[in-house]
Amino acid sequence: MSPTERAFQYILTHTIPGDPQHILETFDHWSYHCEYLSNLGPQKAKILERLIYEKSPLRVLELGTYCGYATILIAQLLPLGARLYTVEMDDRKAAVAEKVIRLAGFDDDTLIRGPSQEVIPQLKEKYGLSHVDFIFMDHWKRCYLRDLQLLEAHDLLLEGATIVADNIIFPGAPHFMQYVKACGKYKWRIHRTSLQYFRAIPDGMAQLTWTGLQ
Ligand SMILES: C[S@@+](CC[C@H](N)C(=O)[O-])C[C@H]1O[C@@H](n2cnc3c(N)ncnc32)[C@H](O)[C@@H]1O
Repeated sequence: MSPTERAFQYILTHTIPGDPQHILETFDHWSYHCEYLSNLGPQKAKILERLIYEKSPLRVLELGTYCGYATILIAQLLPLGARLYTVEMDDRKAAVAEKVIRLAGFDDDTLIRGPSQEVIPQLKEKYGLSHVDFIFMDHWKRCYLRDLQLLEAHDLLLEGATIVADNIIFPGAPHFMQYVKACGKYKWRIHRTSLQYFRAIPDGMAQLTWTGLQ
């Protein structure tokens, strides 16, 4: 069994189905006390939660689903009529995430299986997503810059769209941040926090706002 499958066995027997908050807490308990998972974790969840409240987005894209932790966090906060897609390229993790999403009471058709570089160019035609107004980037850090530029090239960013990129300090995404700061297309700020489940390791989330300037 993989770490995510082991975590799911625990979640199944210790959580309240249909209660996303309880599922998140059960994941946190497992990760603190049993086996590390690279979920968003409770500190960063508070930052993401605040941003979702502030922006009240209608078209949301998450890159990197893993177990579905951030997916259910976001799904429970979205306004009526909002649409959320999450992209995962690893089939075993995607299978776990689908079960977690269903357990929390959401539709598992929110999950798109495949690598982000193949999925992003298909979002308009295959998934009917003409634009996105909130993106949570939490996949491999080396993909951040390429995928931001893919979103720009496919004209997917709504003016004023928010992009939140995790792990910008640890392990960091220097080429991505260099581009964001130099290109003049984004306003940006860093939310300083610590690495998920490791309070002693500093980390941060970048918040970008797309100005619409090409
Ligand atoms: C840090 S985990 C995501 C954590 C998740 N967002 C959460 O908060 O619970 C990163 C995930 O991104 C996936 N991934 C990495 N690169 C990807 C890509 N190019 N396309 C799709 N998924 C990717 C990995 O398989 C892994 O499951």
